[in-house]
Amino acid sequence: MEAVAALFAGSVLLGAFGLLLFVLVGKWPGAQRSAPTAHTEENGQKVNGQAASDRLLGTKKQKQQQRGRKEKAQHTFTHQLLASALKGHSGKITCLDFSSNGKYLASCADDRTVRIWSTKDFLEREHRCMRANVELDHATHVRFSPDSRAFITCLANGETIRVFKMIKKEDGSFTFSAAPEDFPRRHKAPIINIGIAETGKFIMTASSDTSILIWDLKGEALGSINTNQMTNAYAAVSPCGRFVASCGFTPDVKVWEVCFSKAGDFREVARAFDLKGHSAGVYSFSFSNDSRRMATISKDGTWKLWDTDVEYKKQQDPYLLLTVKCEVIEPCRIALAPDARVVAISSGWNITVYNTQKGKKEEEFYCVHGEEITDLAFDTNSRFLVSTGDRAIRIFHNTAGYRAIIEEMKGMLKRATNEGMRQRLQQQIADAQSALDSVQAKKD
Ligand SMILES: *[C@@H]1O[C@H](CO)[C@@H](O)[C@H](O)[C@H]1NC(C)=O
Ligand SMILES: *[C@@H]1O[C@H](CO)[C@@H](O)[C@H](O)[C@H]1NC(C)=O
Repeated sequence: MEAVAALFAGSVLLGAFGLLLFVLVGKWPGAQRSAPTAHTEENGQKVNGQAASDRLLGTKKQKQQQRGRKEKAQHTFTHQLLASALKGHSGKITCLDFSSNGKYLASCADDRTVRIWSTKDFLEREHRCMRANVELDHATHVRFSPDSRAFITCLANGETIRVFKMIKKEDGSFTFSAAPEDFPRRHKAPIINIGIAETGKFIMTASSDTSILIWDLKGEALGSINTNQMTNAYAAVSPCGRFVASCGFTPDVKVWEVCFSKAGDFREVARAFDLKGHSAGVYSFSFSNDSRRMATISKDGTWKLWDTDVEYKKQQDPYLLLTVKCEVIEPCRIALAPDARVVAISSGWNITVYNTQKGKKEEEFYCVHGEEITDLAFDTNSRFLVSTGDRAIRIFHNTAGYRAIIEEMKGMLKRATNEGMRQRLQQQIADAQSALDSVQAKKD
């Protein structure tokens, strides 16, 4: 009952956001799968012993496998722009997600944990993280709820969604509690991505065949999409929460609108627009945070930038803004910075960063991880680029982003006539320059 009372207080305090949380975890009262689990750790030093599930499942073979993993030499990587490395997971990390309030980064690994990191100590020496155990399974994907008070995971063996709520304690840390029931298993092929709309209206799961499912937050399936792309390589919900997009074996990226009635009832999934221009399969795509730009990376040896701020209901097509040559191998990911000024592309073990104004190559990072890169993302302020692929998360300063701001604002300053405007631009240039200078100072 305590949890219910806390939830209720939360929903009054947080209004609409609280309501969402209530819906997400509304099924809480009653038996819980397990006692809430939360442990604060510093830089990988376990404060607490092995998780209960480890003891439950800890057959000899698994223990040997785990030991084998621990004994494998840690990959070392250094670079002038590396701000820090987050270490704590004891297994391969497969997914990263920033909360929309910008405060947290979530990571999940095959060590059966989800870790929540605080973004404000990215530049510190110590990186505290909070650990949520994924009992009897492990998570392949993790996404924060829009109110940053819950997260959803995709279970590797369960092939479905498990919801966790984050209960804030007085000291600012969290305890985590899994919903008593996972979503029903509906996919026939492995799930390749999950998403939750910023509007709080739906959850998306996509599998490697051609199917995408749309769910309500309680785990009822609302609708499904057949992408007709032979196989899905990637799918995602747009940051505005209105669209679901997919790419795969065919050259077009397809975008659908998930439509709800004024009263909030699910109506349909309707085709919105396509990104047409690549000449071979598309590996991955990414949205800017206002959903007005998309970047795509294809097997045809190019990446493209698109203006998707179009009136598709009047048959207006997205505009192709830029095509840049870029040979990649799989696995390959693309991340567009929230402010759309730079794009990062991972190919195998390497990452390349480009400016989106003219497509200039800005940075190259080689052999960033000990294994192939599994995820790549920018933080909500476009200050950092993060990547993973082994047991570490690497955080890079987005200096290319600061340079792009300076270049853009200098151009605007030349044309600015109004004094207020000039001052604002000068301030933005000074801020970006001082961010650049502080990275430079650390380097020297
Ligand atoms: C990564 O970089 C290394 C070093 O330059 C290079 O040998 C390798 O081919 C690159 N791999 C990919 C997938 O681009
Ligand atoms: C997008 O991110 C930028 C910073 O990168 C921020 O200033 C802006 O408010 C964000 N916009 C939305 C719609 O979240």
